[in-house]
Amino acid sequence: MEKSILITGGAGFIGSHVVRLFTRNYPGATIINLDNLTYAGNLENLRDVEKHPNYHFIKADICDYEQVKTIMAEFAVTGIIHLAAESHVDRSITDPFIFAKTNILGTLSLLQAAKEYWKNDCHGRLFYHVSTDEVYGSLEHGGFFTETTPYDPKSPYSASKAGSDHFVRAFHNTYKLPVVISNCSNNYGPCQFPEKLIPLFINNIRHNRPLPVYGRGENVRDWLFVEDHARAIDVIFHNGKIGDTYNIGGFNEWKNIDLIKTMIKIVDRLLGRPEGASEKLITYVTDRAGHDLRYAIDSSKLKNELGWEPSLQFEEGLEKTVRWYLDNQPWLDKITSGDYQKYYEQMYTF
Ligand code: NAD
Ligand code: DAU
Repeated sequence: MEKSILITGGAGFIGSHVVRLFTRNYPGATIINLDNLTYAGNLENLRDVEKHPNYHFIKADICDYEQVKTIMAEFAVTGIIHLAAESHVDRSITDPFIFAKTNILGTLSLLQAAKEYWKNDCHGRLFYHVSTDEVYGSLEHGGFFTETTPYDPKSPYSASKAGSDHFVRAFHNTYKLPVVISNCSNNYGPCQFPEKLIPLFINNIRHNRPLPVYGRGENVRDWLFVEDHARAIDVIFHNGKIGDTYNIGGFNEWKNIDLIKTMIKIVDRLLGRPEGASEKLITYVTDRAGHDLRYAIDSSKLKNELGWEPSLQFEEGLEKTVRWYLDNQPWLDKITSGDYQKYYEQMYTF
């Protein structure tokens, strides 16, 4: 039987890359993108695949259990790749309720729908939950997050993702629902909403706006190119062991301030400005509340068991990313008007 794969959050940053990869690589499969198009969902991200005969878009809320069940039956869904979420830590600090609703209750609604729809035959079925390394907390004393690191979420966002992970494992343990979970480090690349560090700063450098560095810029993140994450999801979806967890990361740690200076160099060069001209835009601002110091993923299980490795060196990926945002100013202009302005003014009071 042909596969019918429901991808939630497919209009978002990572989801759109996953939808593109699956639509192109599996023309015999039906790919259903279920997304309710929050501020972060953007169908412009999928213009190049929307006419593929195997691609379907459905505007729906993952929290709507009845509708999710109906969609599963209508498309005879055999697999779910669940990415839909509220994803920005700063927004979770301002409004934690929507994070609990979407990330915990939304995941529960999908799990229950899958359990009910597949109850008579789970053979060849899979519920793949896409999670984050932030559930492990903050590495204050060195080391790496492995698949067995105890959960220690510290922000409302990571607490809600941890809650969703627990529900996924509980459904596997209690109802034998076939599940797999991956926890990935920070992604970067085209189509990321410009509330996150890299696209926000590229856009601000271009427009000579202040660059709001939280605290002293000493926090460390482990960056992975988004297409490499999508490839990892493909590998895990097809070859991962049911019930298992896989960490995804590129062994690519950067202190924020070093990354910001590297971005400034690339943007200035591509815009024909003198080297380092935009460093004057760096503005140290009040730190994020409860700001996790360091994330670093050990992804050796994924490499050793399933043969996945990142394909891009960071410098190459970052240059590719900067070029994409500079070449796609209309994409940015469209989403940085309207509500974004309100968000920006509330968030950054220089
Ligand atoms: P994003 O915010 O760019 O996209 C989220 C998508 O989910 C949007 O298209 C939005 O419209 C949709 N959505 C939100 N609420 C919904 C609902 N109730 N019903 C249906 N759709 C809804 O997020 P992203 O950065 O692409 O992250 C995708 C997933 O990957 C999330 O689960 C996130 O926790 C996880 N993740 C992200 C990163 C990262 O660096 N961005 C790293 C690791 C894991
Ligand atoms: O680790 C995976 C996580 O990475 C994902 O689960 C989240 O969905 C994703 O948003 C990301 O979380 P971060 O909080 O690490 O990403 P963000 O881009 O918001 O911030 C990266 C770092 O930059 C962080 O240390 C905070 C800092 N920062 C961020 C912004 C937006 C600033 O200094 N200034 C800023 O304006």
